[in-house]
Amino acid sequence: MNEIFEAIKKASVEIQKIIDVGDTGKSENENSTGDTQLKLDIASDIVIEKIFATIPSIKAIVSEEQEAIVPLNEDGEYLIAYDPLDGSSLVDVNLSVGSIYGIYKNDFTAQNIIAAVYVVFGPRVEMVVAADNCVKMYRLFNNSFEYIQDITLNEKGTITATGSTQMCWPDHHRILVNKMFKDGYYLRYSGGMVPDLHQILLKGGGLFSYPGTTDKPKGKLRQLFEVFPFALTYEFAGGAASDGSKRALDVETTHIHDTTPCFFGSKDEINKVLEVYKENV
Ligand code: F6P
Repeated sequence: MNEIFEAIKKASVEIQKIIDVGDTGKSENENSTGDTQLKLDIASDIVIEKIFATIPSIKAIVSEEQEAIVPLNEDGEYLIAYDPLDGSSLVDVNLSVGSIYGIYKNDFTAQNIIAAVYVVFGPRVEMVVAADNCVKMYRLFNNSFEYIQDITLNEKGTITATGSTQMCWPDHHRILVNKMFKDGYYLRYSGGMVPDLHQILLKGGGLFSYPGTTDKPKGKLRQLFEVFPFALTYEFAGGAASDGSKRALDVETTHIHDTTPCFFGSKDEINKVLEVYKENV
């Protein structure tokens, strides 16, 4: 799988250049989830696809920015689902954004994800690789990624990050969030999934939640490109991930662009979610 990690490093160096100087305007297209694609999304997607197309071990890829699976090498072993530039609208206001990659075998289902990578483009560029039951972080220096540290979560954290608008939260979610504030949690939410989840991982723990809402009962975040890669990362870091009633990696996928409510955190916070949701749904 090493050649895939090297390909992601190469693509990230290119994407950083696109973020630095690229046009942050809208394109005329929408992706399959109905978001207007930015020119940055499209440019990043092209970079990744071109680089992945040169790797013989990749059987097929699917991008959050594209409608369908793209076959690459019949004899390849790996399938990759990726979000080229998650939170790209934040580039305009100079907040951090990120790329997310889920590496699967056999088919694009939670049971078959075997590794995950995300890259944060912020004041620094950092790549986090979840594979073989551990999570390792690398940082970009002069076009090359150097190992910095392993990441492990504490049993309990101090941060809570929650998506959507309170107007659309179901009551049980409001109860959960209020309980966390009463218990002393700090609110930290940038609107970029990658930096928000990265912060929780590096600060030792906490909770990121994107619940099912009145306008999006199945949540907003996409299973293959966002939820499963981070669920694997949190589990390998010693935390947990759920859809509010079961393990996130037990969620079934019926379509490549399916979404699900999702919760990622230290074990203590995920137990809290399960408890509050069970008592109040
Ligand atoms: O996937 C898109 C995304 O921008 C995530 O990066 C982020 O966590 C979420 O949407 C923010 O959504 P909302 O503005 O509804 O909280």
